[in-house]
Amino acid sequence: MTMRQNLIAVLSEGEIAEIDAELAHVPIPAGAAIDALKIVQAHRGWISDESLKAIAQHLGMSAAELDGIATFYTLIFRRPVGEKVILLCNSVTCWMKGCDSLQQNISDQLGIGMGETTADNAYTLLPMTCLGACDKAPVLMIGDDLHEDVDPQSVAQLFQPGAEEQ
Ligand code: FES
Repeated sequence: MTMRQNLIAVLSEGEIAEIDAELAHVPIPAGAAIDALKIVQAHRGWISDESLKAIAQHLGMSAAELDGIATFYTLIFRRPVGEKVILLCNSVTCWMKGCDSLQQNISDQLGIGMGETTADNAYTLLPMTCLGACDKAPVLMIGDDLHEDVDPQSVAQLFQPGAEEQ
């Protein structure tokens, strides 16, 4: 098996095509590193060591170099996560507005601590630095949805079936 075939065995043709489309817009392959990580994460939910090595190989970088970028960028998940990731802002304004009690109530509701995933794999709870909506603190994201002015006492409503359509 050639190196290229080996890479294709890990990354799908579709993933490689999307990464190559990003590569066309950057002067050096490393410039597409974050986009390549995001593409593979969008397909797989997280970035395994195997995926990381394959992406690094495709970009002509070392796995360690790419891992440094992935680790620095908090929205790249290097461990498996649930179907939806809850990103709870714990920066200063949200902290002053009660993100600690928000976290406690989420943990009570879902039965998970920070960094953990529910038994049904529905949610992973992770801390996040400022989400840029400090005037609406406390703030969290569930999947792609930003929730502002979250009331810690009624946060459980956000995890009821159909809550996202409201
Ligand atoms: S501190 Fe939470 S959104 Fe800025």
